[in-house]
Amino acid sequence: MCLAATGCAAPQTSPGGGLTDAGAAPAWLYPMNPPPSGPEKAADAKTPVRLPNSRQEFLPAQLTDRFSAPDWHPQSHSPMPEIVVHGRAPDTYACGFCHLPGGQGRPENAALAGLPAAYIVQQVADLKAGTRRSAWHGGPYLPLDLMRAVAMHATASDVLAAAEYFSAQTLTPRVTVIERKRIPHMRAVAWIYVKDSSGGDEALGQRIIEWAPDLALHEHRDDEIRYIAFVPTGSVARGREIALQGLPGITQSCSGCHGRQLQGMGLIPPLAGRSPSYLLRQLIAFQTKDRNGLVAAPMQAVVAKMQLADLIAVSAYAAADAGPNLHLLGHTLRAIPGQ
Ligand code: HEC
Ligand code: HEC
Repeated sequence: MCLAATGCAAPQTSPGGGLTDAGAAPAWLYPMNPPPSGPEKAADAKTPVRLPNSRQEFLPAQLTDRFSAPDWHPQSHSPMPEIVVHGRAPDTYACGFCHLPGGQGRPENAALAGLPAAYIVQQVADLKAGTRRSAWHGGPYLPLDLMRAVAMHATASDVLAAAEYFSAQTLTPRVTVIERKRIPHMRAVAWIYVKDSSGGDEALGQRIIEWAPDLALHEHRDDEIRYIAFVPTGSVARGREIALQGLPGITQSCSGCHGRQLQGMGLIPPLAGRSPSYLLRQLIAFQTKDRNGLVAAPMQAVVAKMQLADLIAVSAYAAADAGPNLHLLGHTLRAIPGQ
């Protein structure tokens, strides 16, 4: 389903190299939500949707209601404030609808669980002021346009309540990072990639392709869903080197500010275990200065001279291998047969 009047065409997934001529972000990093190519199987409006890992059930209409966050795992987080579960009609959508009730986030938006509350408040202010924008200039990108609308309409007390709530939740990393030279043909749907049913494979090139092995779980907003990110061979080791040591003459280490395990320090946000495509979109936005908020200057300096391959490498490392316990959770690099 395509909700935007324009901008729903799927970008090409051809192996890109570097930023576009306009200095903007590459299209493959923004998988859109193309219109259905054939007749859609009509969901039975009265049949509740269930998931194997939850006792809850929701009608199809409840899963697309921006003023109600479907909560598949109520035990996984503390009680949600009203703004997170229902938002405030008519303009402020429920934070938990997009960011999920426990703030685990989806690759097209952002994980909010465990971010410092003051950082959350500042980002919403930057989005509202228009100083934090998308580095994608090729047309509308609905997820961020809607976030901007939320930032414009949310009251200060709503934002504060949401910020305090999300900062008290714990992020559960759900991305498995896999290094590959070649990947199956992928197609964009619902702001994420899935394997294309036509089969075949293609070169990955300099890209991160984050995808949902089970599209239904993604569409139903399951917060325990697992994603896979294909990254270029050698990225994680290269990313570790940059994150911990920096690159002489190019950038300082990330860990100096974000913490040894990229777990965040003070008001500086954590990076460990977060969606690598989200992280990469942000790094590019600092580079293009589309992300130009109140405290963006240190990050703009960090990425100013970095190449796309190195931005990919640090994003892959942060998602895969940083963080205190990620190796115990099985999120370190591993091969999955047949993937
Ligand atoms: C319609 C979907 C949607 C809703 C509803 C929504 N957001 Fe977002 N939010 C997004 C997207 C998409 C982004 C990613 C922006 C980007 O890429 O720069 C985002 C990013 C953010 C960020 C930045 C996170 C970071 O790590 O820098 C914060 C903070 C945030 N949202 C807070 C909120 C709060 C608070 C609410 C509820 C009042 C809310 N959002 C409601 C879609 C949404
Ligand atoms: C001098 C301190 C400093 C260093 C060094 C630094 N960062 Fe940051 N980083 C920050 C600050 C401050 C922010 C918040 C920026 C803002 O609010 O706009 C940030 C934000 C980010 C974000 C956005 C997170 C989000 O939730 O949206 C990413 C991604 C990031 N940094 C990655 C890195 C990487 C990768 C490196 C190393 C190559 C690095 N940083 C090095 C200070 C630093």
